Amino acid sequence: MNILFFGPNGSGKGTQGAIVKEKFNIPHIETGVIFRDNISKGTTLGKEAKGYIDRGELVPDSITIPMILDRIKQKDCKEGWLLDGFPRNLTQAEALDKALKQENINLDIVIEIVLDRQIAKNRIMGRRLCVNDNNHPNNIYIDAIKPNGDKCRVCGGELKTRSDDQDEGAIDKRHNIYYDDKTGTVAAINFFKNLSAGSGGVPKIIELDGKPGVKEVAADLLGKLA
Ligand code: AP5
Repeated sequence: MNILFFGPNGSGKGTQGAIVKEKFNIPHIETGVIFRDNISKGTTLGKEAKGYIDRGELVPDSITIPMILDRIKQKDCKEGWLLDGFPRNLTQAEALDKALKQENINLDIVIEIVLDRQIAKNRIMGRRLCVNDNNHPNNIYIDAIKPNGDKCRVCGGELKTRSDDQDEGAIDKRHNIYYDDKTGTVAAINFFKNLSAGSGGVPKIIELDGKPGVKEVAADLLGKLA
């Protein structure tokens, strides 16, 4: 099963992606996580990516596209993959589509979380990341997933903030890229919606309302995947 996961920054892609990964037993490939791992290890890729990420800009396509196209060729992706955070603009969408067609690989499902940008922004600013598992939901502004004091509400692990989560200007830039329907992420989503409309509903398009709580969105998602 090959799946793309779209949604504005802070809408819950990482949170809900963990559920999709478990359901289909496929790797959850998060572009942002790959970059952050490289930054924390001080690799050349990390050094190249850091400035762009801190400013809320996209890492250049010349770095990101080959990185992801190589990643989905790895052995653990034989039975499928879930891409979260890629494609993020029309150029990346077209490059992915071209690469899949060349390799005769089908795209099965495109999931889109729909969420107002102010709600997404509040979620980003309140997000706290568990050092044991990025996908343990913790948010200081949301009662249902408030941390336990300064510890993870799921496992008691230490919590940290992401450097790009506390800068409102950078968050706005990330959202401007997302909601851009000419060349940005919404343009990429529309690219796949048009493909689906022209190919008898393949890939399947699943739209989710991101406003309800984590459990409600998960239930909606699992229902639509069934
Ligand atoms: P990335 O890591 O993708 O960061 P992002 O854009 O902020 O989006 P996230 O994926 O972190 O948010 P999310 O939707 O997963 O939300 P989450 O589940 O955490 O990218 C970082 C940077 O890397 C980019 O800015 C760019 O520079 C670079 N980059 C990445 N991909 C690239 C690409 N393809 N090309 C070029 N550059 C690229 O949820 C957010 C919070 O809300 C959490 O606290 C969570 O617990 C909470 N929450 C989730 N769901 C709910 C709910 N239903 N109700 C209440 N709270 C909820």
